[in-house]
Amino acid sequence: MTILITGGAGFIGSNFVLDWLAQSDEPVVNFDALTYAGNLQNLASLQGDARHVFVQGDIGDRALLDRLFAERRPRAVLHFAAESHVDRSIYGPGAFIKTNVEGTFTLLEAARAHWNGLDDAAKAAFRFHHVSTDEVYGSLAPDAPAFTETHPYEPNSPYSASKAASDHLVRAWHHTYGLPVLTTNCSNNYGPYHFPEKLIPLMIVNALAGKPLPIYGDGLQVRDWLYVGDHCSAIRAVLARGRVGEVYNIGGWNEMPNRDIVHRVCALLDELRPSAEGPYTRLITFVKDRPGHDRRYAIDARKIERELSWRPAETFDSGIRKTVQWYLDHADWVANVQSGGYRDWLATNYSAR
Ligand code: NAD
Ligand code: TYD
Repeated sequence: MTILITGGAGFIGSNFVLDWLAQSDEPVVNFDALTYAGNLQNLASLQGDARHVFVQGDIGDRALLDRLFAERRPRAVLHFAAESHVDRSIYGPGAFIKTNVEGTFTLLEAARAHWNGLDDAAKAAFRFHHVSTDEVYGSLAPDAPAFTETHPYEPNSPYSASKAASDHLVRAWHHTYGLPVLTTNCSNNYGPYHFPEKLIPLMIVNALAGKPLPIYGDGLQVRDWLYVGDHCSAIRAVLARGRVGEVYNIGGWNEMPNRDIVHRVCALLDELRPSAEGPYTRLITFVKDRPGHDRRYAIDARKIERELSWRPAETFDSGIRKTVQWYLDHADWVANVQSGGYRDWLATNYSAR
């Protein structure tokens, strides 16, 4: 038995691979294009571990996918690979359409061809798990109820529109072809190995470097933050016990405005790595808002709790403390990401293997 993970060198994917292999001996084939967001250094602890097989490739490469399915015969696909940063999608939406929409289409087709060739028992057991986001549902008014799984799709950014399109493709491949799919829509994650272009790691890394902490607009946009380890446990629960064809929303029951997040990060750094120049909040700078900036996301995670008994294990306090501590303990990882040195990791560590 093997699972195939796409995007397993990214933030959530690498956390998932590490988490999976810490709890199971079922091998993982990790298929990742290693874009700027893919970092094999995240998986350095798996060097020499035969349960982890890394294959560099693009989910738009059908021939490569066909070979991979034929050779590895995975019992499940966990599809994390995506272009994931809203700001990048505003400046260059093309890559988002290519990977998130066309890439998901190609992956679905390769998975369907593989699935069609399985015997009845293997066909019934096969799963295509699509990892998606709460951003597909659009923006909530301050007092509106949180997103349920039946909330209308109202994506507002090129990123969320491309993820919404991919969700629709996955749904259609189930209804039309019978492919056994699962979809999860999760809120904002944070934790180790988070690329420092996203809010929380950017604030930590900039604060430590004495650089400005840029808050978009008034900073009162609300997100529902979930520790990445909790996202991984939710995905494992859905993969193991989720009903085929169903959607599960995953969230942290933890809505917070961006300003509060930044203040919390600053307070933790003041405690753990005080600066001689005074509190880190001195670095906060309000900058021009993101175009089309969604005001509020909030997840109603009752379905996954009711059906699969999943609830987050971390509170925001425990999760953010672990996260800030992780960045303090991994200055080398941060330095490598900032210098681009992590991009040499493949050549340095894998070329002779
Ligand atoms: P990430 O940007 O950190 O990682 C994406 C990974 O996918 C990278 O390793 C990259 O190299 C790989 N990739 C990109 N294009 C590829 C392609 N064409 N072929 C193969 N691999 C490719 O993203 P993340 O934050 O880890 O997000 C993972 C998934 O979870 C995404 O689908 C995202 O939409 C979803 N999600 C993210 C969050 C969040 O807060 N980060 C929340 C909910 C859902
Ligand atoms: P981000 O981490 O980019 O995730 P997403 O846009 O997918 O929610 O941003 C989280 C929130 O933080 C979002 O409301 C935008 C805001 N933000 C800032 O205020 N400053 C920043 O430098 C960044 C990167 C984000």
